[in-house]
Amino acid sequence: MSRELALIVAHDRGGAIGMHGQLPWRLPDDLKRFKSLTMGHTVLMGRKTFDSIGSPLPGRRNWVLSRDSSWSYPGVVRLDSLEAAMQLHAEGLLWVIGGGQIYQAALPLVSRIEATEIDTTLDGADAWFPRLDPGLWHVLHREHHPRDDRHEYAFDFVRWSRS
Ligand SMILES: NC(=O)c1ccc[n+]([C@@H]2O[C@H](COP(=O)([O-])OP(=O)(O)OC[C@H]3O[C@@H](n4cnc5c(N)ncnc54)[C@H](OP(=O)(O)O)[C@@H]3O)[C@@H](O)[C@H]2O)c1
Repeated sequence: MSRELALIVAHDRGGAIGMHGQLPWRLPDDLKRFKSLTMGHTVLMGRKTFDSIGSPLPGRRNWVLSRDSSWSYPGVVRLDSLEAAMQLHAEGLLWVIGGGQIYQAALPLVSRIEATEIDTTLDGADAWFPRLDPGLWHVLHREHHPRDDRHEYAFDFVRWSRS
């Protein structure tokens, strides 16, 4: 079986991803896409992102990065470094799902990014997705989703591939 490392993120025009430990928007079709892409695979997240979700994501292997050896949660594998996660990830698809610290650390290792570019600029964000180097990444696919009754902002689903 092959081994793939991918990343999934939703960010505003300036790369903001979070505020006060939470997602700053509620976009049902984005959550639906997140669920369908990650279901059945492994998700890797930082301890703060896990805290904000509050429980393991069903139907996925949940790996949480934390340097606190006393941290544990039923149904979750704690890993104390990205290197340990890479060693454990022998096969299949691993999704890096955030937050800011984990995106920053894992970006050099991933081959694909599924981004949701949200058409807004947040005020007061405190977590960020790194700016992608246009020499290293190119857009494979882009799909627009307009603003509507259920979505307070318009957004684009964008698939990036390593050049
Ligand atoms: N928009 C999106 O797509 C998206 C996705 C996910 C999260 N978010 C948002 O992002 C924010 C959280 O991001 P964040 O940057 O503050 O925190 P984070 O990346 O979720 O978690 C940081 C924690 O991860 C652990 N950690 C970090 N690097 C590590 C390493 N190399 N080895 C081992 N452990 C490591 C540490 O845990 P310990 O302190 O326990 O050691 C650290 O405190 C929230 O607002 C969340 O809602 C947004």
